[in-house]
Amino acid sequence: MDVIRKKRDGVELSAAEIEWLVASYTRGEVPDYQISAWLMAVVLRGMTRAETAVLTDSMLHSGDVLSFPSIAAKKVDKHSTGGVGDKTSLVLAPVAAAAGVAVPMISGRGLGHTGGTLDKLEAIPGFNVNLSTAEFRRVLETCGCAMIGQTPQIAPADRKLYALRDVTGTVESPYLICASIMSKKLAEGIDALVLDVKTGSGAFMKKEEDAVFLAELMAETGQRMGKQVVALITDMNQPLGNMVGNALEVVECVDILKGGGPADLRELCAELAAWMLYLGNAAASVEDGKRLYKKSISSGEALEKFKQMVELQGGDPRSIDDTSRLPQARHWVKILSEGNGFVSSFQGEQVGTACVVLGGGREKKEDAVDPAVGIVLHKKIGDSVSQNEPLATIYHNDSGRAERAGRLLLESFGITEGSPPTAPALVRRVLGTSGEKPGGAH
Ligand code: URA
Repeated sequence: MDVIRKKRDGVELSAAEIEWLVASYTRGEVPDYQISAWLMAVVLRGMTRAETAVLTDSMLHSGDVLSFPSIAAKKVDKHSTGGVGDKTSLVLAPVAAAAGVAVPMISGRGLGHTGGTLDKLEAIPGFNVNLSTAEFRRVLETCGCAMIGQTPQIAPADRKLYALRDVTGTVESPYLICASIMSKKLAEGIDALVLDVKTGSGAFMKKEEDAVFLAELMAETGQRMGKQVVALITDMNQPLGNMVGNALEVVECVDILKGGGPADLRELCAELAAWMLYLGNAAASVEDGKRLYKKSISSGEALEKFKQMVELQGGDPRSIDDTSRLPQARHWVKILSEGNGFVSSFQGEQVGTACVVLGGGREKKEDAVDPAVGIVLHKKIGDSVSQNEPLATIYHNDSGRAERAGRLLLESFGITEGSPPTAPALVRRVLGTSGEKPGGAH
């Protein structure tokens, strides 16, 4: 096939060739083995920015592209490339909706060592993430935010391509990742998107330069398609917040919505929310967005919005008022420090894997997730620690799993003597479509 040979030889494909390839594959007219060869050629040769934009657009238009003409507010979403304890979506959607920005959020499940928004939401008794498009629209119109999973009608080309990439060693291409993520996000009918691109030991992109490359690619692709996109490069060298595990992460989000919660999670939620509010025209600047964020928390409006969304999607709002109604693990065990010093590093991926081992994520795609299990960290980077002091508590339903997870968790803490290390800056860089902050109003 010509498009395989051309990509193999590093020749730029035309828009018509890429559009044909995606449409034919989605209709089942091109076999998996030919697309596999083409995907591998893309992994090895890369794509130009123009090719990436056309691939994204073709995948976006392989299915339904939602639009909400009945909603006058600007539609804005946030996407994270995935991390450990990364739970900001549950705070950001109600905060933005409380300020008058519409958030039609289509999210994913846990992937590898990282958690997924859908799994966290499903820890709330009764919460339904599988709404039809009509139900999704109704929730969005009623409360200003709605959170669901990908439907078969949204970007079907990505569904097929992602499944094939997963088994052909072709996931790790920034061009393919960009097209996959952006096609799904832009199918939500949004006007603007805030990207939280994670870097560090708990992220997929361990190196900051790789995160920046992907962020710029996604931002430029979004802009070529007429959307406002801003990307924050944020730290994932340690879990975000103190809780990892589905129900525990809901508890931590409720704490944030009630005005408490850990400082790092509060800071990142404020930063991401501020950009959503600014791009959504609810705030005059990012600084103004931060003020609005604080107000929507202190007034209780964001919490009320969250409860409203939970109820509209079939969930029990009483479990938000009283989080002891969320699933609870039967047992707990403390992980004690073997030495004295300061926490200086985390093997972040290993903390995520420890949660998967407990049953809080999936080792195989078809595994069920236990919403109750997880980890509460008592120490983060910069904290002093003495021998036998608890580093973390594991909440579990199986002592064998808890033992394996405990070993991983203990190993994941880097403890050094000497002077206290400083925690890494949470927001490393903010990139607009040309590497600048859009609007310059930060
Ligand atoms: N998440 C996606 O949705 N797609 C990718 O390609 C990688 C992560």
